Amino acid sequence: MEILGNEHCTIIHGDALEALQTLPDGSVDLIFADPPYNIGKSFHGQKDKWPSEEAYLQWCYQWLDLCIQKIKPNGSFYVMTATQFMPFFDLYLRNRLFILSRIIWYYDSSGVQARKYFGSRYEPILFCVKDKNNYTFNANDILVEAKTGARRKLIDYRKPIPTIYNSEKVPGNVWEFPRVRYRMDEYENHPTQKPVALMERIIKASSNVGDLVLDPFSGAFTTAFVAQKLGRRSISIELQEEYVKIGLRRLQLATEYKGQKLLKPVRSFETEKNLYQSALKLFD
Ligand SMILES: C[S@@+](CC[C@H](N)C(=O)[O-])C[C@H]1O[C@@H](n2cnc3c(N)ncnc32)[C@H](O)[C@@H]1O
Repeated sequence: MEILGNEHCTIIHGDALEALQTLPDGSVDLIFADPPYNIGKSFHGQKDKWPSEEAYLQWCYQWLDLCIQKIKPNGSFYVMTATQFMPFFDLYLRNRLFILSRIIWYYDSSGVQARKYFGSRYEPILFCVKDKNNYTFNANDILVEAKTGARRKLIDYRKPIPTIYNSEKVPGNVWEFPRVRYRMDEYENHPTQKPVALMERIIKASSNVGDLVLDPFSGAFTTAFVAQKLGRRSISIELQEEYVKIGLRRLQLATEYKGQKLLKPVRSFETEKNLYQSALKLFD
């Protein structure tokens, strides 16, 4: 296990089960856990596939227990997994925490479409707390447009005193955010990078400035990146060195790692644009 960064923004390069055990119990305000889904993706060569569904769930129950231990009494826990495993997480967690929302992160996709069944266009997220009477929820920081009120300027005549509909509301539990695509500025070379907008909603709602946010499966370090932008402290755990390098660069913690410069890879369309601009210069 290797510890990098600083006290505001710490990276633990190592295994989540091992790293979580080193953190003090009851010390974290918010945990966002986006583990491997047991669906066969490759995380820098490591295949996300367990010998059986039971083996995957047994592994998950171990880190879920550790996460619960690390959350403060008034802390919050957001957890993701594949749609087919979420019912098991739900049953496991409802005996240990209060599940306040079952969120659907919905996205459209013009990529490969299922033709003989209804293709998956969402990922589930559970929002849980330890104490349902004492937890952070900054509703005013995450308001979205209430279309009926904001656009149609309707008046609700059912009220004793007719009142204009609200123009803003707290989002419901179906969240539409585009997936991170290759041409987006925030894109990093990671197969399951979550969008900044998704993490902004979670971190703004369930933590305050100065709070500690933990991500045990950091990937492209989106959680820590957003936490840093919003003035929260963070601890990020990640097994793969290649992704730790993304984190060190994205969080501006280092410009070099083991003698190698940490530079964002140039994407193909950026090279094309550069070539095109150089060609134009020839005509200046
Ligand atoms: C679904 S991805 C997380 C994506 C991340 N939320 C983001 O926005 O980029 C899961 C990550 O967990 C890492 N991982 C897999 N097994 C791990 C383990 N035992 N300990 C720590 N990290 C692990 C993988 O390398 C992968 O980067």
